Amino acid sequence: DGQIDNQRGALVVLEGLDRSGKTSQCNGLLSFLEGLGFSVESWRFPDRKTGVGEMISSYLANKSQLDDRAIHLLFSANRWEKRSLMESKLKSGTTLIVDRYSYSGVAFSSAKGLDIDWCKAPEIGLLAPDLVLYLDIPPEKAADRGGYGVEKYEQLEFQQKVSQHYQILRDDTWQIIDACLPMEDVEKQVRELVLDCVTACRNGKPLSQLWL
Ligand code: TYD
Repeated sequence: DGQIDNQRGALVVLEGLDRSGKTSQCNGLLSFLEGLGFSVESWRFPDRKTGVGEMISSYLANKSQLDDRAIHLLFSANRWEKRSLMESKLKSGTTLIVDRYSYSGVAFSSAKGLDIDWCKAPEIGLLAPDLVLYLDIPPEKAADRGGYGVEKYEQLEFQQKVSQHYQILRDDTWQIIDACLPMEDVEKQVRELVLDCVTACRNGKPLSQLWL
């Protein structure tokens, strides 16, 4: 059946502050969709395995210093180097669950004081998510959750700024989920929203590009 060949996967992005529970939800979602027989992969940005990713990783661990704009462009390049693979996976019917994407890129860099339009520019033309699940948690509460690690951005004051900058980026692909609810409740909402989205994509919702 020709129609089945055309059924594309969905691009689902999870966003939120550090310690908002994104990574657990991504893992849960992966096994849930696999269990239903969908072709699905879990991705994350930064992808620390590429050459660019290694530079990012070293920066985040405070092992190297970089100009704010330079690191911004590296995070963006790290998404660009995965774009064509992303597109071919989606077109071949695989759903991608992505832990952080361009919204992290812009929220974290603009929280340092960079101009938001400047931050968005290098993201233009990347694939637009079909659904962004924003796991909403007050920065104080995220900080309490076992505390932050030692990486560069894991400080309360900075996370408060990031949280404000995320709000500016909300668009109609976003669904805000209260990440303070018990994990099972968060999971239930996430599953319902993602199933609807996967269905819409299989039914022909077109793939689009960011910020055009
Ligand atoms: P991540 O690897 O998700 O964090 P963790 O080690 O806690 O799992 O992301 C690392 C940090 O990078 C995180 O604080 C968010 C930040 N970040 C940016 O500043 N710009 C970006 O484009 C992305 C994807 C992440």
